[in-house]
Order: sequence, then C-alpha cells, then structure tokens
Amino acid sequence: MKNILESSFVKEVCATCSNMYRLGWDERNGGNISYLLNEEEVLEYVNPKEVIREIPLGFNAKELAGKYFIVTGTGKYFKNVEKNPEGNLGVIRISDCGCVAELLWGYNDGGKFTSELPAHLMSHMARLKVDPNNRVVTHCHPTNLLAMTYVLELSDKTFSKELWQMCTECIVVFPDGVNVLPWMLCGTNEIGIATAEKMLTARLVVWSQHGIYGAGKDLDETFGLIETAEKAAEIYMKIAHLPLVNTISDEAMHQLENHFGVKARGGYLD
Ligand code: 13P
Ligand code: ZN
Repeated sequence: MKNILESSFVKEVCATCSNMYRLGWDERNGGNISYLLNEEEVLEYVNPKEVIREIPLGFNAKELAGKYFIVTGTGKYFKNVEKNPEGNLGVIRISDCGCVAELLWGYNDGGKFTSELPAHLMSHMARLKVDPNNRVVTHCHPTNLLAMTYVLELSDKTFSKELWQMCTECIVVFPDGVNVLPWMLCGTNEIGIATAEKMLTARLVVWSQHGIYGAGKDLDETFGLIETAEKAAEIYMKIAHLPLVNTISDEAMHQLENHFGVKARGGYLD
C-alpha cells in the first residue's frame, strides 16, 4: 500500500483548502470539499476491506453506491488541513444500500464528514447526470458573493447577468450563469435537495446570506469557477452604489459567445 499522504488527491485537496483559506472564503470551519476519486487510483492507497468505521448518511445516495470520495471533516478549519490531513479529511466509500459512509482513511480523532454532505452527494448525483466527468463539489463563503445576496433580487437571471456584466470573461467561464437559493437552513437534506435541483442547470449555486456551491471536473476547474464569480461579485460590490455609465452590452456578450464557442443560458440575453 502506498502512502496516501503522497497521493495527488490528498496533496491537491490540501493545497486547495490553503488557497481558499488565504482568499478569505473559509473562515473558521466554513466551507467543505468532496472529490469523487478514481477507484483504481484510490485502491493504491487504501485497503477496500479495512473499513475503520461505518457512519450513517441520514439520506439515500444509492446512485453513488461503491463510489469513493475524499471529503473534508465537519467542524474542521481549512487553514489546518495542510498541516494535518488525516485529522481533517476522510476517504469514504458509499455502501451498497447507499445509506452508510464506510470510512477507509482519515477523521482520525473520531470525527466525521462535513455536515453539508447531503448537498454535496446530491449535487454529485445531479451533476453526473448532466456531465459524467464531474468529480468535485466545493462549498465556501466568499465575501462579495455573500454580500450581493443582501442587495440584489434573488433571481437566477438577475444574478447571472449582473455577474456576466462585471468582467468580460465571466460569460465564457460560466455561460450557464449562477443559480440562487433563498436563505434556507444549512446542513439539512432539504437544502441538499434544493441545491441538487439547481445544479441540473448551472455549476454554481448561491446560498443566500451564506455562500456558494461550485461543481466541476477537477479541483482546479471548480476553484477557478468560484474565483471568477467572486471576482465579478467584488466588482459589483465596488460599483453598485455608483452611477453606472458603461456596461458590457448583450451585443458584446453575443460576440463573446461566438468568439469563444460558448452558449449563454437560454433566454438570458436579448
Ligand atoms: P462543516 O464544518 O460541517 O463542513 O460546515 C461548514 C459550513 O460551511 C456549513 O455550511
Ligand atoms: Zn457554509
């Protein structure tokens, strides 16, 4: 068995958590990551027959039975993940019934996966229906995206268009836009179901007055998606109180669509 601390997936999750922390997106224990691992790769590092603990999920994830994930632990601080991966991360396999997480490595202080696992696994199920290459779901609390939810109408179209208009490349990076949920109680199956529903039409889902979810094929892509939206939100918060003199027109957005070969969400552009 190879040393899991040397695996690219542990190293990448550690580096991503540190970057997110440094950007101020993950204060205290804010934020969580789940990463669907390639079975062949993970079995170089863990013995599938040595289940350390079985942890009930509290919802059904049968569509993901037999799948392996590395997941950040509940109550754990992103700033500490790199220093102590085994205490802050866990590798789990979803049991055959889809109701239990079989712990194969990590959470070595008796901890468990993030309280947001319902939203994570339900989002994985939703995104895999749209894009079989989706592997990562990330949640965090970026300051400006969160701030926007206090001053802007909570509509998918309004949020998407405002963000697209803040930086030229936004429409290229997230042509599906961002979907928005009203405030809901976090850590519940209900917010998981609502998030997954929104994940069917966009890779970014804003949780009002809380944070954002992003999904993508790898950690870099998902990080970059949130980073781009957060940059746009920062510009929005810098200018929202000023008279708007210029913007990116829908005509310019169409030029971007043609030039970069992307298609904006249907009905969002004139
Ligand atoms: P966890 O510590 O359970 O991952 O929760 C953090 C969070 O961001 C809740 O939304
Ligand atoms: Zn949160």
